[in-house]
Amino acid sequence: MPSLDHFGLLAPHYDRFIRPADVARLAGLVGLPTSGRLLDVGGGTGRVAQALAGQAGCIIVADESWKMLSRTRDKPGLNPAASHAERLPFPNGAFDRVVMVDAFHHLADQEQCLAEVLRVCAPAGRIVVEEPDIARPGVWAIAAFERLALMRSRFRRGETIARLLEQLGAQTAVHRQDATVWIVALKAASN
Ligand SMILES: C[S@@+](CC[C@H](N)C(=O)[O-])C[C@H]1O[C@@H](n2cnc3c(N)ncnc32)[C@H](O)[C@@H]1O
Repeated sequence: MPSLDHFGLLAPHYDRFIRPADVARLAGLVGLPTSGRLLDVGGGTGRVAQALAGQAGCIIVADESWKMLSRTRDKPGLNPAASHAERLPFPNGAFDRVVMVDAFHHLADQEQCLAEVLRVCAPAGRIVVEEPDIARPGVWAIAAFERLALMRSRFRRGETIARLLEQLGAQTAVHRQDATVWIVALKAASN
Protein backbone atom coordinates (compact mmCIF):
# COMPACT_ATOMS: atom_id res chain seq x y z
CA MET A 1 0.00 0.00 0.00
CA PRO A 2 1.50 3.42 -0.90
CA SER A 3 2.37 5.58 2.12
CA LEU A 4 0.37 8.76 2.83
CA ASP A 5 1.85 11.76 1.01
CA HIS A 6 1.99 14.12 4.00
CA PHE A 7 3.93 16.64 1.96
CA GLY A 8 1.37 16.58 -0.82
CA LEU A 9 -1.21 17.73 1.74
CA LEU A 10 1.12 20.48 2.95
CA ALA A 11 2.30 21.57 -0.52
CA PRO A 12 -0.15 24.47 -1.19
CA HIS A 13 0.80 26.08 2.14
CA TYR A 14 4.42 24.98 2.55
CA ASP A 15 6.19 28.13 1.37
CA ARG A 16 3.89 30.32 3.45
CA PHE A 17 4.53 28.47 6.70
CA ILE A 18 8.15 27.44 6.32
CA ARG A 19 10.39 30.47 6.27
CA PRO A 20 12.44 31.28 3.16
CA ALA A 21 15.73 29.42 3.10
CA ASP A 22 18.86 31.18 4.35
CA VAL A 23 21.31 29.40 2.09
CA ALA A 24 24.54 31.35 2.65
CA ARG A 25 26.12 28.63 4.83
CA LEU A 26 24.86 25.81 2.59
CA ALA A 27 26.11 27.55 -0.57
CA GLY A 28 29.56 28.05 0.94
CA LEU A 29 29.83 24.46 2.18
CA VAL A 30 28.72 22.91 -1.11
CA GLY A 31 31.04 25.14 -3.14
CA LEU A 32 28.81 27.53 -5.06
CA PRO A 33 28.81 29.18 -7.48
CA THR A 34 29.58 26.56 -10.09
CA SER A 35 29.06 26.41 -13.83
CA GLY A 36 28.12 22.74 -13.40
CA ARG A 37 24.83 21.04 -12.48
CA LEU A 38 23.28 21.13 -9.02
CA LEU A 39 20.81 18.52 -7.74
CA ASP A 40 18.49 19.26 -4.79
CA VAL A 41 17.32 15.85 -3.47
CA GLY A 42 14.01 15.91 -1.60
CA GLY A 43 13.85 19.51 -2.79
CA GLY A 44 10.07 19.79 -2.37
CA THR A 45 8.63 23.11 -3.53
CA GLY A 46 12.07 24.40 -4.53
CA ARG A 47 12.23 26.64 -1.45
CA VAL A 48 15.98 26.08 -1.10
CA ALA A 49 16.78 25.71 -4.81
CA GLN A 50 15.05 29.03 -5.50
CA ALA A 51 17.46 30.76 -3.13
CA LEU A 52 20.38 29.09 -4.97
CA ALA A 53 19.10 30.03 -8.47
CA GLY A 54 21.82 31.59 -10.59
CA GLN A 55 24.61 29.94 -8.59
CA ALA A 56 24.81 26.81 -10.79
CA GLY A 57 24.68 26.17 -14.52
CA CYS A 58 21.52 24.09 -14.11
CA ILE A 59 19.41 23.26 -11.04
CA ILE A 60 17.28 20.13 -10.79
CA VAL A 61 14.82 19.62 -7.93
CA ALA A 62 14.09 15.93 -7.30
CA ASP A 63 11.21 14.87 -5.06
CA GLU A 64 8.78 11.97 -4.75
CA SER A 65 5.78 14.28 -4.15
CA TRP A 66 4.32 15.66 -7.39
CA LYS A 67 2.26 18.13 -5.40
CA MET A 68 5.37 19.57 -3.74
CA LEU A 69 7.27 19.64 -7.05
CA SER A 70 4.40 21.38 -8.83
CA ARG A 71 5.12 24.44 -6.66
CA THR A 72 8.48 24.89 -8.44
CA ARG A 73 6.62 26.07 -11.55
CA ASP A 74 6.52 29.69 -10.35
CA LYS A 75 10.23 29.69 -9.56
CA PRO A 76 12.42 30.58 -12.53
CA GLY A 77 15.49 28.49 -13.25
CA LEU A 78 14.35 25.29 -11.52
CA ASN A 79 13.80 21.94 -13.27
CA PRO A 80 11.55 19.47 -11.41
CA ALA A 81 12.21 15.72 -11.54
CA ALA A 82 9.69 13.37 -9.94
CA SER A 83 11.78 10.64 -8.36
CA HIS A 84 12.56 8.67 -5.25
CA ALA A 85 15.78 9.65 -3.55
CA GLU A 86 16.62 5.95 -3.32
CA ARG A 87 16.40 5.53 -7.13
CA LEU A 88 17.55 8.72 -8.81
CA PRO A 89 16.86 8.75 -12.56
CA PHE A 90 20.23 10.24 -13.54
CA PRO A 91 23.44 8.79 -14.96
CA ASN A 92 26.57 8.29 -12.89
CA GLY A 93 28.48 11.50 -12.22
CA ALA A 94 25.78 13.81 -13.65
CA PHE A 95 26.06 16.51 -10.95
CA ASP A 96 28.95 18.61 -9.66
CA ARG A 97 27.02 19.53 -6.56
CA VAL A 98 24.25 17.79 -4.59
CA VAL A 99 22.28 19.21 -1.65
CA MET A 100 19.62 17.62 0.53
CA VAL A 101 17.92 19.91 3.06
CA ASP A 102 15.60 18.71 5.80
CA ALA A 103 14.74 15.60 3.79
CA PHE A 104 17.20 12.90 4.93
CA HIS A 105 15.26 12.02 8.10
CA HIS A 106 12.10 11.42 6.00
CA LEU A 107 13.66 8.86 3.66
CA ALA A 108 12.46 5.29 3.61
CA ASP A 109 15.98 3.94 2.94
CA GLN A 110 18.64 6.39 4.04
CA GLU A 111 21.64 4.17 3.23
CA GLN A 112 20.38 3.56 -0.33
CA CYS A 113 19.84 7.30 -0.84
CA LEU A 114 23.43 8.06 0.21
CA ALA A 115 24.69 5.45 -2.27
CA GLU A 116 22.56 7.11 -4.96
CA VAL A 117 23.71 10.67 -4.27
CA LEU A 118 27.32 9.50 -4.39
CA ARG A 119 26.65 7.65 -7.64
CA VAL A 120 25.14 10.70 -9.39
CA CYS A 121 27.81 13.04 -7.98
CA ALA A 122 30.75 13.66 -10.34
CA PRO A 123 34.30 12.67 -9.32
CA ALA A 124 35.71 15.45 -7.06
CA GLY A 125 32.13 16.72 -6.67
CA ARG A 126 30.57 17.78 -3.41
CA ILE A 127 27.47 16.78 -1.45
CA VAL A 128 25.92 18.57 1.54
CA VAL A 129 23.23 17.03 3.73
CA GLU A 130 21.56 19.62 6.00
CA GLU A 131 19.49 18.29 8.90
CA PRO A 132 17.99 19.37 12.22
CA ASP A 133 20.73 18.49 14.73
CA ILE A 134 19.29 15.62 16.78
CA ALA A 135 22.25 16.02 19.15
CA ARG A 136 20.47 19.20 20.36
CA PRO A 137 17.66 18.69 22.91
CA GLY A 138 15.56 21.37 21.14
CA VAL A 139 15.27 19.08 18.12
CA TRP A 140 13.92 16.17 20.19
CA ALA A 141 10.49 17.89 20.28
CA ILE A 142 10.43 18.06 16.46
CA ALA A 143 11.33 14.38 16.30
CA ALA A 144 8.54 13.51 18.77
CA PHE A 145 5.99 15.60 16.84
CA GLU A 146 6.92 13.98 13.52
CA ARG A 147 6.62 10.52 15.09
CA LEU A 148 3.14 11.39 16.36
CA ALA A 149 2.20 12.66 12.88
CA LEU A 150 3.30 9.27 11.47
CA MET A 151 5.85 11.03 9.27
CA ARG A 152 8.22 8.06 9.03
CA SER A 153 11.01 10.27 10.39
CA ARG A 154 14.30 8.77 11.48
CA PHE A 155 16.79 11.35 12.70
CA ARG A 156 20.46 10.33 12.67
CA ARG A 157 23.35 12.16 14.27
CA GLY A 158 25.56 14.13 11.89
CA GLU A 159 28.50 11.88 12.72
CA THR A 160 26.46 8.79 11.84
CA ILE A 161 25.52 10.22 8.43
CA ALA A 162 29.18 11.15 7.88
CA ARG A 163 30.30 7.61 8.78
CA LEU A 164 27.82 6.11 6.30
CA LEU A 165 29.19 8.38 3.57
CA GLU A 166 32.77 7.45 4.48
CA GLN A 167 31.89 3.76 4.22
CA LEU A 168 30.90 4.58 0.63
CA GLY A 169 34.33 6.12 -0.02
CA ALA A 170 33.70 9.85 0.53
CA GLN A 171 35.73 12.22 2.69
CA THR A 172 33.52 14.05 5.14
CA ALA A 173 33.32 16.94 7.59
CA VAL A 174 30.55 17.83 10.04
CA HIS A 175 29.59 21.46 10.77
CA ARG A 176 27.05 22.72 13.30
CA GLN A 177 25.32 25.94 14.15
CA ASP A 178 22.42 26.34 16.56
CA ALA A 179 19.97 23.50 15.79
CA THR A 180 21.35 22.68 12.32
CA VAL A 181 24.01 20.19 11.27
CA TRP A 182 25.63 20.03 7.83
CA ILE A 183 27.44 16.93 6.61
CA VAL A 184 29.81 17.74 3.77
CA ALA A 185 31.05 14.87 1.58
CA LEU A 186 33.73 15.05 -1.08
CA LYS A 187 33.70 12.33 -3.69
CA ALA A 188 37.10 10.98 -4.70
CA ALA A 189 38.55 12.47 -7.90
CA SER A 190 38.54 9.06 -9.57
CA ASN A 191 37.02 5.70 -8.67
C1 LIG B 1 10.57 18.79 4.93
S1 LIG B 1 10.44 18.69 3.17
C2 LIG B 1 11.88 19.61 2.69
C3 LIG B 1 11.77 20.17 1.31
C4 LIG B 1 12.93 21.09 0.90
N1 LIG B 1 14.18 20.38 0.91
C5 LIG B 1 12.97 22.30 1.81
O1 LIG B 1 13.89 22.39 2.64
O2 LIG B 1 12.12 23.16 1.66
C6 LIG B 1 10.95 17.00 2.83
C7 LIG B 1 10.78 16.62 1.37
O3 LIG B 1 11.36 15.32 1.18
C8 LIG B 1 10.55 14.64 0.24
N2 LIG B 1 10.82 13.19 0.38
C9 LIG B 1 10.61 12.39 1.45
N3 LIG B 1 10.99 11.14 1.19
C10 LIG B 1 11.45 11.13 -0.09
C11 LIG B 1 12.00 10.12 -0.93
N4 LIG B 1 12.15 8.86 -0.50
N5 LIG B 1 12.37 10.46 -2.18
C12 LIG B 1 12.22 11.75 -2.62
N6 LIG B 1 11.71 12.74 -1.87
C13 LIG B 1 11.34 12.44 -0.62
C14 LIG B 1 9.14 15.03 0.61
O4 LIG B 1 8.22 14.80 -0.44
C15 LIG B 1 9.34 16.52 0.91
O5 LIG B 1 9.12 17.32 -0.22
